[in-house]
Amino acid sequence: MNFHVLTLFPDMIRQGCGVSILGRAQEKGYIQIRVTDIRDYADRKWGRIDDYPYGGGAGLVIQAGPVCRAYEDICKEYEEPPRVIYVTPQGRVFDQTMAEEFARCENLVFLCGHYEGVDERALERVVTDYVSIGDYVLTGGELPAMVMIDAISRLVPGVLNNQESATFESFHDNLLEYPQYTRPEIYEDMRVPEVLLSGHHANIERWRREQSLLRTWQRRPDLLENATLTKEDRRYLAALEEQEAEDEKNVLLDDSQEDSSRDM
Ligand code: ADE
Repeated sequence: MNFHVLTLFPDMIRQGCGVSILGRAQEKGYIQIRVTDIRDYADRKWGRIDDYPYGGGAGLVIQAGPVCRAYEDICKEYEEPPRVIYVTPQGRVFDQTMAEEFARCENLVFLCGHYEGVDERALERVVTDYVSIGDYVLTGGELPAMVMIDAISRLVPGVLNNQESATFESFHDNLLEYPQYTRPEIYEDMRVPEVLLSGHHANIERWRREQSLLRTWQRRPDLLENATLTKEDRRYLAALEEQEAEDEKNVLLDDSQEDSSRDM
């Protein structure tokens, strides 16, 4: 899969994507990440590509010309114009389903804005998707582009090795991962759960499953709606609900007893 990134900070992308799994995936040729410095397409002195906004206001706007020319150069390499993602807090919020959809593309272009943004005419001409990584504002589009490239790349066949894929599988039922422990067995009076030292595989499997369910129930209950659950899982979750209702009843009872003893 080929990623192109149009940016004013090419080193940020090269350094961020050049290490770890993405670095290895590029070396092995599973993905290619090509970075274009928008400044290389400047037609003004000193490589200037930004200017004051018409109508006034703070900040500078990246001009349409350099962005469109950079994009046209990329298009020359392909028969079909590639999809262009403009990373912006005004976009649709990125999630795993979008990562899966983008991973099916052969070529993807990311356009990273900075300052007050990009001249709207360039966006109208080249952008196919407006995508955000969440409801907060960052200083530029490079980090969001890297987040998306990472999430998409790990879905490209070959990018993850078997062990890494197996880790990924454990998220697949829409459940959070169970807790992990390694040596030492006791760390500052905190012991590794006994069952993990037992060597009893079926019990370990059940314990891990219950921990996943518990975590998801506590931290991300919204995920349970789309989780793949067995009868046993449902029984376990029902027991958690029951326990919670029981605890709440006891708290209410304690409170009312406290109130009545104060009134006496
Ligand atoms: N640029 C600035 N903030 C952003 C965000 N949250 N998502 C995508 N692009 C951005």
